[in-house]
Amino acid sequence: MNAVLQDKYDQPAELPQVQVNGKPLKPITRTLLERRATSHFSDKPVPREYVTAILELGLQAPSGYNLQPWRFIVVQDAENRKRLQKAAMDQAKVGEAPVVIIAYAVKDAWKSQMHKIFVEGAKRGAGDEEKIPEQEKTVNDFLGNFPAATWLNRHTMIAFTTMVIAAESYGLDTAPMEGFDPAEVKEEFNLPAQAEVVALLAIGYAATPDKPYPGRLPLEETVCEERYGNPWHSEQGTQER
Ligand SMILES: Cc1cc2nc3c(=O)[nH]c(=O)nc-3n(C[C@H](O)[C@H](O)[C@H](O)COP(=O)(O)O)c2cc1C
Repeated sequence: MNAVLQDKYDQPAELPQVQVNGKPLKPITRTLLERRATSHFSDKPVPREYVTAILELGLQAPSGYNLQPWRFIVVQDAENRKRLQKAAMDQAKVGEAPVVIIAYAVKDAWKSQMHKIFVEGAKRGAGDEEKIPEQEKTVNDFLGNFPAATWLNRHTMIAFTTMVIAAESYGLDTAPMEGFDPAEVKEEFNLPAQAEVVALLAIGYAATPDKPYPGRLPLEETVCEERYGNPWHSEQGTQER
């Protein structure tokens, strides 16, 4: 599609359809099973079209009322990554990875975004223009009393996780991070006072073999069927009634 004809609110017209190394994209099951949090990255750069594609795919994540409160800063400059590393408990991977994304969200920013988002949705047939004022009242009532940090983190992590999955499918390695000083990140990167720094995401190529799979709690310990206390069993017919 001609980029000029594309509306800026459209889905991305073109995305890479192969891994960075030219191999077919990893299917979803392999993507999810092979992903490991990478400890050390090489300095091999990630092509910009792949960084853009990962960001574009992240932005396709769902959000309450489609309000998309997530925001990101892509840090690639070596000096800036060093500054970020300092604010991130000196984690070496922040300085090593060619791309580090700061995921954040700004409290109350949804208030100034909501109208244009609803108008855009209605224009596309995903909503009724006449009902926008009513919908805005519903959102104001709902979010007005909702703990902001919880709401911002909830949504930003969905887009963030989508980026992790997209990067892995493109054959890249990632490291999600919560080890940072939010006040320092805000100061170093000129974030507004109302910003909530949610997580950091390093993207690149592992410099060392993946650490071993650390194991996961099984379904029986993490999932219930129908009600609390009734563990999910993979086999039909074995569950308690
Ligand atoms: C939100 C989040 C924050 C994390 N923060 C850090 C971090 O600051 N430093 C770090 O080395 N690993 C961090 N990790 C990586 C986890 O330790 C890792 O995902 C976990 O041990 C499971 O390993 P796996 O991802 O390879 O399966 C974080 C993971 C997530 C999802």
